[in-house]
Amino acid sequence: PFVVTENCIKCKYTDCVEVCPVDCFHEGPNFLVIDPDECIDCTLCEPECPINAIYPEDDVPAGQEHFVALNAELSRDWPVITTRKEPPADAKDWEGKPDKLPLLER
Ligand code: SF4
Ligand code: F3S
Repeated sequence: PFVVTENCIKCKYTDCVEVCPVDCFHEGPNFLVIDPDECIDCTLCEPECPINAIYPEDDVPAGQEHFVALNAELSRDWPVITTRKEPPADAKDWEGKPDKLPLLER
């Protein structure tokens, strides 16, 4: 499956959700995750993210391997999202910032 990684936290542009043919994106307060049991590896979402936060499970950036388990865990708790919405007003300020994991809201 594909995995949403750290750069999505507090950016949450949601461009990714509309292309998914199997509706496997789930939305939390400031982050999105992919349900690994639903993802069919179609690859359509990966180029949609303007800040390259989506990777195949086998190609997650070094140091972000824990996001694989985090996507699986949070997709069980969070509701499905299929429609794009406005990103947070300060999303641009958070693009590419390191160490955003402590800012993840559940
Ligand atoms: Fe959905 Fe395809 Fe992305 Fe998997 S790879 S989350 S099926 S758009
Ligand atoms: Fe996040 Fe990128 Fe989707 S910022 S919400 S993975 S478009």
